[in-house]
Amino acid sequence: MCGIVGYTGPREAYPIIIKGLKRLEYRGYDSTGVALQNGKGVKVYKKKGKVAELEDAIVGKDLHAHVGIGHTRWATHGEPSDRNAHPHQSSSGKLAMIHNGIIENYAQLKSELINKGYQFRSDTDTEVLLNFIEEIKTNNNCSLEEAVRVALKRVVGAYVILLVDADDPDTIIAARKGSPLVIGVGKGEHFLGSDASPMLEYTKEVVYVNDYELAIVKPDELILKNLGNEKLTPYVQKLDIELAAIEKGGYEHFMLKEIFEQPQTIYDCLRGRLDAVAGTITMSGIQQYADQIVKANRIVMIACGTSWHAGLVAEYIFEELCRINVEVEYASEFRYRNPVISKGDVIIAISQSGETADTLVAIETAKAKGAIILGVVNVVGSSIARASHGGAYTHAGPEIGVASTKAFTAQLAVLTMMALKIAYIKGSVSHDRYMHLLNELQEIPEKVAWVLKHSDHIRTLAEKYKDARDFLYLGRGYNFPVALEGALKLKEISYIHAEGYPAAEMKHGPIALVDETLPVVFVATRDTYHEKVVSNMQEIKARKGQVISVITEGDDMSASLSNDIMIIPEADEIVAPMLSVVPLQLLAYYIGVAKEQDVDKPRNLAKSVTVE
Ligand code: F6R
Repeated sequence: MCGIVGYTGPREAYPIIIKGLKRLEYRGYDSTGVALQNGKGVKVYKKKGKVAELEDAIVGKDLHAHVGIGHTRWATHGEPSDRNAHPHQSSSGKLAMIHNGIIENYAQLKSELINKGYQFRSDTDTEVLLNFIEEIKTNNNCSLEEAVRVALKRVVGAYVILLVDADDPDTIIAARKGSPLVIGVGKGEHFLGSDASPMLEYTKEVVYVNDYELAIVKPDELILKNLGNEKLTPYVQKLDIELAAIEKGGYEHFMLKEIFEQPQTIYDCLRGRLDAVAGTITMSGIQQYADQIVKANRIVMIACGTSWHAGLVAEYIFEELCRINVEVEYASEFRYRNPVISKGDVIIAISQSGETADTLVAIETAKAKGAIILGVVNVVGSSIARASHGGAYTHAGPEIGVASTKAFTAQLAVLTMMALKIAYIKGSVSHDRYMHLLNELQEIPEKVAWVLKHSDHIRTLAEKYKDARDFLYLGRGYNFPVALEGALKLKEISYIHAEGYPAAEMKHGPIALVDETLPVVFVATRDTYHEKVVSNMQEIKARKGQVISVITEGDDMSASLSNDIMIIPEADEIVAPMLSVVPLQLLAYYIGVAKEQDVDKPRNLAKSVTVE
């Protein structure tokens, strides 16, 4: 969702910015633009559509500059169009600005500016903020930095903004609240980005800008201040990502690459933490809070989308192993509900990006009420990671495909380890079961690799079912959230309507949809509820629905009731979701490809949802 890039230094800015914008394409966008500052003024080029279309449209223009900013826009205020694309220029034409976020009180600011005679060229909240800044700068005859600081004190909402000024040729002013901003520190140059991907080949030294901070960025100087104009010391961190991690590496799509990376990503997630021989789980970010978790009245999992599904699986696991009451909340509902939080509550925030606006605000709400916040986050140094008291990174590496795959299985691996660790300390799991589950977890990477070997079969199923209008996904227990996740993947990638449901609950409504045209995907692996799920399969069969099922190897009974099957190896039900979700990821992927959809960047979706 909206990507920002900036550069100031001795190199040509335009190629760096365009390449950076392409790296941020995965975030989802509908228009793009750049502002180039060449000492003779600021030139803005922008266009609805993809970055490549902008490049084509401006061939032959004067693109020479050593300072520039670039943006991919995901429309909020005003339709996707050339005029609503960023950067916006101020009334005088001297300032250009890009913005990621939403200015909630833009209507009020806009009417004040209209009363002062301002006219607007776009429908955006960004142009309003920019002119508001210019108005302050002109009226107070102050620096741009000062004007930005004053303006931001009036702003309600979330933002990262980057500004260039025709009167200050080598400087970029940046500020953030609620949306991500990373500054790359080079030798005599600086890079800015929504994440580190635009700067990876130039520098590994980065500064994560915090909320309510403002940066004055010049080629050889980075000044960081708070909105009270006090100087702060930038904390420079070393990135631990290689360029190869954000490239396709021979796969047709990032999504496929990321599905196939799962044996490695789950292994990376377990490595150094799980020791099945010694019977230990080492999680330094949890250790300190272990006592409080053991004594917690309840655990509240807060997340959105796929991460929310990981929270649902974890609810079953924590309740089973730790005997602690768990609730799983949509962050967007939780934050506005005036939730009841007591001191002993433990919040687990689950997020791939670590930047999801609703999750971030939800945990801040809970933190203010005294809860302990543990983050299960993929992106190192992200806002949610920093806002949490403790937690654990998922170490799945950069996830570029918009539909989350490897982050989900890594979240499950981390949450399962957390639950096991707490259960062991609490004594709510027997030693034998604990040791058995450690071994089961350790075998997961190999078993995922086994499932992936059957991808060709799933590709043929995708061809067979790709023209269905609707799909129903059913599961019970640990596999109910997996059914939800399978349905979400399919609708995101193929645009086929798909609904996930608890298998038994299906009788209370969705069964009305069943006829010979409806594929019903059962997540029917061998577990405590297996016989019940088999009965549900029979109910669908009796109504001529087409049963496609994910089953455990050797389960002839379920196979005989199914039109088609996808197989996973035998595994304990607690760890099985990390396996049973994989065929569903592949099915969604291959159906999306068969329908010629843009699987890495599905329409309307954003990778990192930084607006509420
Ligand atoms: C689905 C998907 C989304 C995200 C959701 C939360 O494939 O990717 O549903 O899971 O937007 O994002 P994070 O995990 O970054 O907080």
